[in-house]
Amino acid sequence: MSQEILNNVRKNLQAITPYAPGKPISDVKREYGLEDVIKLASNENPAGPSPKAQEAIAAALWSLHRYPDGGAVDLKAALAATYHIPTGQILVGNGSDECIKMVSETFLNPGDEVVVPVPSFSQYWFGTQVMDGTLVQVPLADGFEYDLDAMLTAVTERTKLLYLCTPNNPTGTYLRKAELRNFLDKVPSHVLVILDEAYAEYVCAEDAANGIDFLREGYNVLVMRTFSKMYALAALRIGYVLCREDVVHEINRVREPFNVNTLAQVAAVAALGDAEHVEKNRAMNQAGYEQVTAGLTALGFSYIPTQANFLLFDTKLNDKELFQLLLEQGVITRSGTALGAPGYLRVTIGTKEENQRFLTALELVVSQLRQKV
Ligand SMILES: Cc1ncc(COP(=O)(O)O)c(C=O)c1O
Repeated sequence: MSQEILNNVRKNLQAITPYAPGKPISDVKREYGLEDVIKLASNENPAGPSPKAQEAIAAALWSLHRYPDGGAVDLKAALAATYHIPTGQILVGNGSDECIKMVSETFLNPGDEVVVPVPSFSQYWFGTQVMDGTLVQVPLADGFEYDLDAMLTAVTERTKLLYLCTPNNPTGTYLRKAELRNFLDKVPSHVLVILDEAYAEYVCAEDAANGIDFLREGYNVLVMRTFSKMYALAALRIGYVLCREDVVHEINRVREPFNVNTLAQVAAVAALGDAEHVEKNRAMNQAGYEQVTAGLTALGFSYIPTQANFLLFDTKLNDKELFQLLLEQGVITRSGTALGAPGYLRVTIGTKEENQRFLTALELVVSQLRQKV
């Protein structure tokens, strides 16, 4: 290939390094010669999908020679019934990741500003960079709580999008109803506020803001949710957007005709219909949270209270080294450095056995590291 072709690549893409996900179990097994590896790195639900979703997938296998329903009619109807939102206000994507990209493609011209909290989910940066937008980063305040005043101050006439992730990945901190209302009342009307609620189904705090309530009240918000986390359908790639109907109409212009596959659609409908599975998994996550935080406290660590299925804790050590030593013990986590929170480690809450395995490995490697310090 001639160099000239490469010179034609859009310059803003040069700043993008392809997303580095949590290491897959198979890679770690191979690299370290381990047989038993657990992954607590990508905030997946360890219980797996609802049996109803699994049955729906099996029942749909015969139809894979057909294109999926590009309008996702059944799924939109199920979401509309679940959240009391008209189907016209729903858009389905190939994971929330695709939703973020579609929203970026719809709204951003080169140089347009996007206000984001940091640390938060890296795909906001990606969507902005792909469109040659300008990312305006607003650090979280003490305890990784939102600094909404600073986010407001960061808004200019060029701001098109503003992301709030609640509970926030990687910190697990969340927005309260009252603070979100106060914020939305002040945000200029030319800014679309995106509420990324990927972990909404895990939230237990009574004062937590629920973006859908604000949307129903007529606030200028776009709510993004996913079936990858609580509903445990990460491999099928399915997420959705709830927002004003006219905004859905605009985003639909950039959506690929068959962006969500059939298995994802049928599984999502069935998963939505299994409230018991969600309740059970929320309770399991809560029990796991208590187990992990008790273990961390016993080992002398402090942690950031979370409303999600992961938590961030202060290692008071070199987090990259700690991550590596845990990996060698067959426990995959995420180092805070990789997520914009150096010194911290993020661990997904797993099954009771996985949590115990993590705590046992942590105790072992931490005693090695603390001796070195
Ligand atoms: C905050 C947040 N938003 C969006 C996503 C992407 O979800 P999906 O699997 O639906 O693309 C994730 C995944 O980790 C996330 O943590």
